Amino acid sequence: MDVKIVSSQEEGAQIALKIFQDQLAKNNASVFGLATGSSPIAFYEAAVNSDIDFTKATSINLDEYVGLDGNNDQSYIYFMKSNLFDKKPFKVNYLPNGMAKDLAAETKRYDQIIDDNPIDLQILGIGRNGHIGFNEPGTPFDITTHVVDLTPSTIEANARFFENKDAVPRQAISMGIGSIMKSKKIILFAYGESKAQAIKDTIEGSVTTHVPASVLQNHNDVTVIIDQAAASLLK
Ligand code: F6R
Repeated sequence: MDVKIVSSQEEGAQIALKIFQDQLAKNNASVFGLATGSSPIAFYEAAVNSDIDFTKATSINLDEYVGLDGNNDQSYIYFMKSNLFDKKPFKVNYLPNGMAKDLAAETKRYDQIIDDNPIDLQILGIGRNGHIGFNEPGTPFDITTHVVDLTPSTIEANARFFENKDAVPRQAISMGIGSIMKSKKIILFAYGESKAQAIKDTIEGSVTTHVPASVLQNHNDVTVIIDQAAASLLK
């Protein structure tokens, strides 16, 4: 893993932007795997303020809450539109449909989308418990798109975005670790002290399903962009 310790999220965003620009220079019809959450926001801002052109590119998001539609400002589709897609148009944007009546069929549909559009570059954040996407500790490494019951720790971490903890959806649809690992390149962002243990376990710990992000040690092209606080427990 190529670990870059940055002094600000803006600096991290510029490093990621360069990797995106290099990818688009190779193929302007690239497929980008995208994440929501606080970690990629500075990057999306930098992308919006740049002259980067995504109009031939495809995006595939990691996940979506079950039961929230695009009008709900906590849905991931809403987040992606307001932070990126409305300002930087892509050729096509794929997200799991959290309102699908048949969730099993929706996971199959999403796997087909990922198979048809192999991901060139995947953005990830990391949970305090080491989750990537909504792949919580214990999730098998070869899993594809699936419906997840959120853990109490993730519900609590996400409660800050909702009126209260009870308003946080209990389920999500998530791209699986198996699909994430098929991405040709991966950028993982982590900022702040609350991520320090997960980053230590991911980079220096053993590869174990107890720390889902530790699987990234098995990938040959991962750039980890972290600040001093997230790096504070590294040797
Ligand atoms: C979001 C996602 C999650 C977040 C993770 C970190 O699409 O898949 O795995 O990346 O929970 O969230 P933040 O960046 O808010 O700390």
